[in-house]
Amino acid sequence: MADVVLTNVNKKFGTFTAVEDLNLDIGQGEFISLLGPSGCGKTTTLRMLAGLEFPTSGEIRIGERVVNDLPPGDRDIAMVFQSYALYPHMSVGQNIAYPLKKRRVPKPERAELVAKTAEMLQLTPLLHRKPKELSGGQQQRVALGRALVRDPKVFLLDEPLSNLDAKLRGYMRAELIELHQRLGRTMVYVTHDQLEAMTMSDRIAVMEGGKLQQFAQPQEVYRAPANRFVASFIGTPGMNIVDGALREESGQWVFDAPGFSVNAGDLGSDARPGPAAMGIRPEGLTIGSGPIQGTIQLVEQTGHENITVVRLDDDLRMTGRTAPDQIWRMGEPVQFSIDAHQAHFFAEGPNGKRLNRGVPKTGASPANRTPSKEATS
Ligand SMILES: Nc1ncnc2c1ncn2[C@@H]1O[C@H](COP(=O)(O)OP(=O)(O)O)[C@@H](O)[C@H]1O
Ligand SMILES: [Mg+2]
Repeated sequence: MADVVLTNVNKKFGTFTAVEDLNLDIGQGEFISLLGPSGCGKTTTLRMLAGLEFPTSGEIRIGERVVNDLPPGDRDIAMVFQSYALYPHMSVGQNIAYPLKKRRVPKPERAELVAKTAEMLQLTPLLHRKPKELSGGQQQRVALGRALVRDPKVFLLDEPLSNLDAKLRGYMRAELIELHQRLGRTMVYVTHDQLEAMTMSDRIAVMEGGKLQQFAQPQEVYRAPANRFVASFIGTPGMNIVDGALREESGQWVFDAPGFSVNAGDLGSDARPGPAAMGIRPEGLTIGSGPIQGTIQLVEQTGHENITVVRLDDDLRMTGRTAPDQIWRMGEPVQFSIDAHQAHFFAEGPNGKRLNRGVPKTGASPANRTPSKEATS
């Protein structure tokens, strides 16, 4: 059942369009992320859900109600901001109780709700402390507690972890996932961090330039990115994207890159001969053997694997994953291959549509790659 629905939502600031014709249908209890680079309209979208901004046109529904004209307090939502400023002079308990106090919830009930929320977030031993006596992670949990205490229908979270260090972020990610599972509440989570979106969300809405690029499950966004923008935004290291051209050869598509060609096989009906791009994730490259010739540009050792960059010419470098014991010298010639089964093809342009049919197989190990489909130079 849909819980939050945006229909043809536009938001303009003067003549500038911050959000353009946005359609989203968020299910009850779903955890969705709004993901995209800075300035793509994530916060504006969240603020429209919260009632802090009003759409220029379009409709926003929460539950059964159209909320376009409802003030924040009447929407049954709670929002956690990036700068989760706690009241410094209030204790943890008072901070958590504040939204209830504002709503004139009677004192005994307030105390009970605060105790329950503190228990859930493991803040009980800290209830009497002041914010400055807490770690960053603990402060963030208090901010969450302030949102949770009212048990709203929908949670809106705007980059709530971005002020924390990397280790704590990982820990809080896990806590939020668990919290979501326990509460079963609808959550809309804004982030520019694709790893956060990938690990936490039921579905990810990828945005760019105020426009929705794709709204799908993390695995689908990763395996079948709707367009070149999504393909390059998701994944670390990023997808290798090579400009070239498509041509037809005996009923099949072939992609010509500078220096090599890849059999693209069957593509969707939008495929046209001419300029296009090919995308291949680092795991789709086999470095050490194959028909394509390059030179080693860089080997980054991360511990459990190496990130190896191969240079084909001045303008073209490709990144692959290699075993930790596979180390080359910089400038050393190397051969490699591209697994055509894992290749994506995109129409021309930065947001060129993905042309493949369906979702490719993932995790294809070198052993089960079909040699006939491999890159030929
Ligand atoms: N109140 C405002 N007035 C004018 N422009 C704004 C306002 N709020 C946001 N914008 C612009 O709208 C765009 C989207 O902003 P925002 O939603 O905050 O992006 P994000 O959260 O994805 O980084 C940005 O270009 C921003 O400068
Ligand atoms: Mg923002």
